Amino acid sequence: MEVFHTLVQSSLGGEYPVVVGPGALERLPELLRERAAAHAYALVADDRVMELHGDTVARSVESLGRPVHRLSFPHGEENKNRGEWSRLTDALLERGLGRDGCVVALGGGVTGDLAGFVAASYMRGIPVVQLPTSIVAMVDSSVGGKTGVDVPLGKNLVGAFHPPRFVLADTELARTLPRAERSQGLAEAVKHGAIVDADYLDRVVADADPLLDGADPATARMVARSVQIKADVVSSDETEVGLRQILNFGHTLGHALEAASGYRLPHGSAVGVGMILEARLGERLGVTEPGTAARIEEAVAAVELPTTQPPGLSRSEVLALLARDKKARAGSVRFVLLEGVGRVHSGDGDGPPTWSRTVPEDAVVAVLDGV
Ligand SMILES: NC(=O)c1ccc[n+]([C@@H]2O[C@H](COP(=O)([O-])OP(=O)(O)OC[C@H]3O[C@@H](n4cnc5c(N)ncnc54)[C@H](O)[C@@H]3O)[C@@H](O)[C@H]2O)c1
Ligand SMILES: [Zn+2]
Repeated sequence: MEVFHTLVQSSLGGEYPVVVGPGALERLPELLRERAAAHAYALVADDRVMELHGDTVARSVESLGRPVHRLSFPHGEENKNRGEWSRLTDALLERGLGRDGCVVALGGGVTGDLAGFVAASYMRGIPVVQLPTSIVAMVDSSVGGKTGVDVPLGKNLVGAFHPPRFVLADTELARTLPRAERSQGLAEAVKHGAIVDADYLDRVVADADPLLDGADPATARMVARSVQIKADVVSSDETEVGLRQILNFGHTLGHALEAASGYRLPHGSAVGVGMILEARLGERLGVTEPGTAARIEEAVAAVELPTTQPPGLSRSEVLALLARDKKARAGSVRFVLLEGVGRVHSGDGDGPPTWSRTVPEDAVVAVLDGV
């Protein structure tokens, strides 16, 4: 068994380890004892993941001889909301979990965000450990400390930074994940390659078959490299004032496409198309090396994600959504542009790097229209 180990520096909670590998769950009791000793544990998972993996994980936590309260909620993004947050926090109060308790978040990004926010707010904050089970959660959401819920006016608008005590990603748990969900997570791996590591992008393309099958060691290696990239970026800029923005590559247009589709277009699919379009935008502006968009398009196709916008999206709606984003960010729509594969452009001006820049609207329109 090959197990990878990375440390994430957090200005809020010291440093925390991320442990990745097939069978890494074996390390859970030891990690809990060392990093998250508690009087009692609350194991939070959605109904699907609780059914598939709840017993195994609960038994492992119970080996510490402490009570384990299992709390589940219905799966799906629509349940990452304040209603479920209330239900879960009330359930913890009813079970008498004290300030010396700890939340174990087992699942995809929805569980990590929701259970993380429960931990962040319960009794003004108790520890959380993240056990990601989806590729999205392993390569992206479990690392970085962002937690929260969706509200009627938008996704992730109410939440807190609450870094975990540790992240343990057992890639064997992701074998039960549907193939289409794996593709969604691989969009973020493609992004990590596109922004900082051209060789990694090529490896994701070369390993696309085992990655889509959920096979190891390809999956563990991919998760480990993505975690390392995200950890390096987040360690240097946890609260997204500078470098962390590069993780938004493909997301400015991606978010607008996702919202314009009424969220029928899943996030990873929207980001895949967003990365291709933003690379074309950079090429059009003379910032990005020609051929970059084609390489990203090849990678997006290799992980079985769409490379074109879904039919029927209204261009004016997409532009209106970008403008809304602009209002929220005090005046300008900012794009992270690449210099080439594996290199982000430093942004606007000659001063310190801003890692993102504004672009003329006609260039955005031309790219959306494919001209
Ligand atoms: N906090 C962050 O920094 C951050 C970053 C990226 C995404 N996110 C959030 O993550 C969420 C998306 O995450 P997601 O795609 O993992 O969604 P998810 O948690 O809903 O998981 C997707 C589906 O897969 C199922 N599933 C998860 N693991 C499984 C397994 N091992 N076997 C079988 N089924 C399994 C879940 O039950 C669910 O139905 C969004 O809410 C997004 O906002 C947060
Ligand atoms: Zn994303």
